[in-house]
Amino acid sequence: MKSVIYTHKSINMLRETLLEKGCTFVIIDNNLQHIAENFAGFPVFCLKFSEQVKTLDTVAQIASWLLENGADRDALVVGIGGGITTDVTGFAASIYKRGVRFAFVPTTLLAQVDASIGGKNGVNFHSYKNILGTINQPQWIYICSDMLATLPEREFKAGIAEVLKTFMLFDKENYRKAVEFFAEVSRRYAARGGNGKPYGAVASEVDGGLLTEIIGKCAEYKCGVVERDEFERGERRLLNLGHTFAHSIEKLTGGEISHGYAVSMGMVIAAKVAVALGKADEAFVRGVEDDLRSVGLPAVLDECPATSHLRIADLADAVKKDKKVTGSGIHFILPKGIQDVEDIMLPLEKIKEIADGLR
Ligand SMILES: NC(=O)c1ccc[n+]([C@@H]2O[C@H](COP(=O)([O-])OP(=O)(O)OC[C@H]3O[C@@H](n4cnc5c(N)ncnc54)[C@H](O)[C@@H]3O)[C@@H](O)[C@H]2O)c1
Ligand SMILES: [Zn+2]
Repeated sequence: MKSVIYTHKSINMLRETLLEKGCTFVIIDNNLQHIAENFAGFPVFCLKFSEQVKTLDTVAQIASWLLENGADRDALVVGIGGGITTDVTGFAASIYKRGVRFAFVPTTLLAQVDASIGGKNGVNFHSYKNILGTINQPQWIYICSDMLATLPEREFKAGIAEVLKTFMLFDKENYRKAVEFFAEVSRRYAARGGNGKPYGAVASEVDGGLLTEIIGKCAEYKCGVVERDEFERGERRLLNLGHTFAHSIEKLTGGEISHGYAVSMGMVIAAKVAVALGKADEAFVRGVEDDLRSVGLPAVLDECPATSHLRIADLADAVKKDKKVTGSGIHFILPKGIQDVEDIMLPLEKIKEIADGLR
């Protein structure tokens, strides 16, 4: 099933058009109380926020709440928040009464361009991230750039990395446009010494229209990929650009680093691997590094306190434990240029050999 994506500046349209009286159940991140006001009259479950919330225990609490509130097979469960809220909501709705309808209002940049789209819903279990879950598409996703006005720097930048990844895969022109826009946001934010408005508000102030356009375009690309390859047998694997080494970085820093920062450095390492295989040139790597730095993301391990003790060679061992490893290799997405990437099967030994030679 294909999800319908609505892109609006404000949240007003949502209440008027998409919420169904009598069967809508709202699950909201409790850091978003100011948004919860828009749902007066509907049953609302507040998620006490933390990564610990992404558990089976939370799913059980949601199921109990749905039962207590009389949710039947016609229920529409609407998750409002970042990727944690949308992942948990999608999973709970997918198994409640063997599956009821669900929809999302993503409130982080990362969730608007990535996490809320594609139907991967799940929770963490033991020490494994997203190990229990379903692939099941939401009815609709309501993307509203106004939601980002309260988003702090770290969360906003996590989303920028996914935006640049998407455009690096599919769209040279928008890649350049996005780099220039986010670089201006970074300059404007830094000029205020970070003490003024939240990062998301500064982005809207620089050009709210362009921000909405960038988010809409990215969401459209991801949606298209998912429609053509829902179960990740081919094209969807491209979305993993930068993520193989990013996952190793996250593993070795024990959650100290944001996913977006790890993806940023992971994309540069992937470009270096492409150079080592003779598929890209050094100038391309330097260009990507400069772009990432200009938008305020770290390009190399040294630029981040949480990763400055690591070397690329250290990361290769952790790649072996990536859940996407099949046999003795992994599909690796090589960026050879902007809008020029290749999916290759890379033996783990080869990754280790290349990583040992990289700085
Ligand atoms: N399903 C997928 O395909 C997919 C893809 C990527 C990531 N994810 C998952 O997404 C999760 C990360 O999600 P995320 O980074 O979007 O955010 P999040 O849900 O982790 O939230 C991050 C923080 O931002 C706060 N927040 C959310 N919206 C806000 C707003 N508008 N203003 C101010 N603060 C706000 C939250 O309360 C929280 O403190 C991870 O669990 C990851 O596994 C899933
Ligand atoms: Zn990601």
